[in-house]
Amino acid sequence: MNASTKTFALEPIEKASIDELRALQLQRMKWSLGHAYAHSPVYRAKFDAAGVHPDDLRTLADLAKFPFTTKHDLRDNYPFGMFAVPREQVVRVHASSGTTGKPTVVGYTRKDIDTWADVVARSIRASGARPGDMVHVSYGYGLFTGGLGAHYGAERLGLTVVPFGGGQTERQIQLIQDFKPDIIMVTPSYMLAICEQVEHMGLDPKALSLRIGIFGAEPWTNEMRHAIEQRAGIDAVDIYGLSEVMGPGVANECVETKDGPTIWEDHFYPEIIDPDTGAVLPDGEEGELVFTSLTKEALPIIRYRTRDLTRLLPGTARTMRRMQKITGRSDDMMIIRGVNVFPTQIEELILKRPELSPNYQCLLTREGPMDKLKVAVETAPGLDPMGIEARAAAKLLQHEIKIYVGSSVEIELKPEGGIERSVGKARRVVDLRKK
Ligand code: DLL
Repeated sequence: MNASTKTFALEPIEKASIDELRALQLQRMKWSLGHAYAHSPVYRAKFDAAGVHPDDLRTLADLAKFPFTTKHDLRDNYPFGMFAVPREQVVRVHASSGTTGKPTVVGYTRKDIDTWADVVARSIRASGARPGDMVHVSYGYGLFTGGLGAHYGAERLGLTVVPFGGGQTERQIQLIQDFKPDIIMVTPSYMLAICEQVEHMGLDPKALSLRIGIFGAEPWTNEMRHAIEQRAGIDAVDIYGLSEVMGPGVANECVETKDGPTIWEDHFYPEIIDPDTGAVLPDGEEGELVFTSLTKEALPIIRYRTRDLTRLLPGTARTMRRMQKITGRSDDMMIIRGVNVFPTQIEELILKRPELSPNYQCLLTREGPMDKLKVAVETAPGLDPMGIEARAAAKLLQHEIKIYVGSSVEIELKPEGGIERSVGKARRVVDLRKK
């Protein structure tokens, strides 16, 4: 076996029996809780206050006795207060800006960086990478985990990496044409912007060399997957992750099934809880995703509340469980006259209408005591937003949102380019109520 076929073989744990996987998780969970308790005063105080000790964990289900960790814990202990190793052993930090307040700072030891590279390599392989492939990385490099996370994983797999980062769309396209990468790693919304620019240049995105797109960092629907796959002639797979837990590569879809990201459960233990009561829900039920790191050294994360809503599903292509594609973040949930609405629900319906483009934004306003939702969406290229066809499509969309989502919304049609393009995560909800 030469070096490249070795890296491309599945790791034994990916196909291990459930019993084997659970035994490994229990052993690692004991270590992780013990490590957090022994070396992070913040965790020690939290466990003590909850009256629990790492020795109380005898089975995986005992995890439910331990307190949750939230973004507030990280903010309250800004910047390095939750680290469980001396700062000198932290070889890298990342941070997420968030919309309010201080950033959330996370840290990695040498071993953590190694683990991260391994899980991202596993993710890229699950996405269908082959030995010799070239990967174009358009996730941002810097404090955001996307760029460097993708980069180290692709290198670990032995692929050729083009570390472009976000922005400069025309230059990206020029390099994609010249270097002929097989894989692109980018947010789905920025992939759309790239496709659009390619078309403006009089080219067909399908004619590019790309075979696979590994898309994540923001919610995107299966309808969006089909739209991108058709437009770019690629396989579009979902990569999930968050900086507090590691970064990209906490979970990744397997290209042969495309049925929701497989969670790399040997490193990140998932639970689904009722967001209101905190009670653990059985697999299959929808709720808030919670993660416990099993091997992380610098910043062990115990029962971290992601605010992401999904369900846990049984493994298909791997032993490990899957998560359903994220419906939305509780932060993005809009409540319109008592009805909960997520941008992804709107996205699904927009993508059914060929007269409309996948560029959209949900604008929240207030009229008197009532919240109002306006969906701003661009018409398909070349279609006049004032024309009969476009207006009929808007009416149908409004009707479908009423029927399927349960909300009365206003639709505002915009010409191509009328919705801001982002080079990273798209802003799907604009809250105009505070003004
Ligand atoms: O977005 C890490 C990442 C980078 C993942 C590149 C995938 C690709 P944060 O900036 O900390 O980290 O944001 C994490 O983004 O809690 C989700 O709400 C959302 N998110 C990430 N991946 C997905 C996905 C990175 N595949 C937050 N589907 C998470 C839906 C996602 N939402």
